[in-house]
Amino acid sequence: MEEIEIIKPDDWHVHFRDNEILKAVVPETSRHFARSIVMPNLVPPILNAKQAIEYKKRIEKAIPKADSFEPLMTIYLTEETNKNELKTAYKNGAIFAVKLYPAGATTNSDSGVKDIKKVMPVLETMAEIGMPLLIHGEVTDKEIDIFDREKVFIDQKLDFICKKLPELKITLEHITTKEATKYVENGNENLVASITPHHLALNRNALFVKGINPHNYCLPILKRETHREALIKAAISGNRKFFLGTDTAPHLTKDKESDCGCAGVFNATYCVPILTQLFDNKNALSQLENFISRHGALHYKLNINKEKVKIFRSSKKIIFKKFINVNKEKIKIFAPDFPVFWKIIK
Ligand code: NCD
Ligand code: ZN
Repeated sequence: MEEIEIIKPDDWHVHFRDNEILKAVVPETSRHFARSIVMPNLVPPILNAKQAIEYKKRIEKAIPKADSFEPLMTIYLTEETNKNELKTAYKNGAIFAVKLYPAGATTNSDSGVKDIKKVMPVLETMAEIGMPLLIHGEVTDKEIDIFDREKVFIDQKLDFICKKLPELKITLEHITTKEATKYVENGNENLVASITPHHLALNRNALFVKGINPHNYCLPILKRETHREALIKAAISGNRKFFLGTDTAPHLTKDKESDCGCAGVFNATYCVPILTQLFDNKNALSQLENFISRHGALHYKLNINKEKVKIFRSSKKIIFKKFINVNKEKIKIFAPDFPVFWKIIK
């Protein structure tokens, strides 16, 4: 059996939810990752340090004893966010980063930002203190075609923020387009991007193979093959501006398979083997560690993890479990449409 050893990875974008779902999904991430940035889009959202600290405690309770895992907490930016409170919470370590959702852009984003200009004073404070801003980069205007929302966001909103505040550390999250890879490549050194395993694995046809497939529906929505190819190129390029953020986003199967199914792909369980396969398919295994274990830590100015993990190549394709259980309900685990031979033995 072929084997590779890499620095233990980090996941720079996860949704853990709360209560029973939280208990079921946290171990799926803590098993393989050392650290994760945790999204604040609960209902109601995490808006301040007190809520973030309480949420962190609930997450910590769900981490199995055998795992050493650190959740890094975020708050949800609104037009009411107080910059002085934010500064204190960042300085004392309660909050690691701030998440900007344009209002209505995705799951649980109703209280997001409507007018970027209204949050510029908060962003200026963040730039001064070096606090990272994480952006869901899609416009929400109904007239804009859903496949163009990321590109239009870059042109109309992101460019404005980057030009006004070049010193602000920005992660354009879960990028999905060639335009995003180009913009980030050419942008200032503080602008970086995360990429998900499902956007690397699938193009938009996967939404409609043999019928409509709600389990491949996420936001930003999957794009054309040319865009997927651009994302792969960025991920394997060795460019420090690109790193993994899985955007693992669990929803109960009944909420995905409904007449108005939720956006989000739950990919925590097999994302490392899937990424290893994708890099292997491109003869780029030497870049895997950079993408999943180094580049994010470099951007966020954190130590590179000391622990290592081994990934093995089996001669037979790996049979994935299809679901995790949450009481009597279940959550579908993401699996790509190509065979995966790599696995982590743990
Ligand atoms: C996420 C969720 O379900 O919270 N859904 C998704 O499709 N990615 C929200 C998000 O990150 O956009
Ligand atoms: Zn997300």
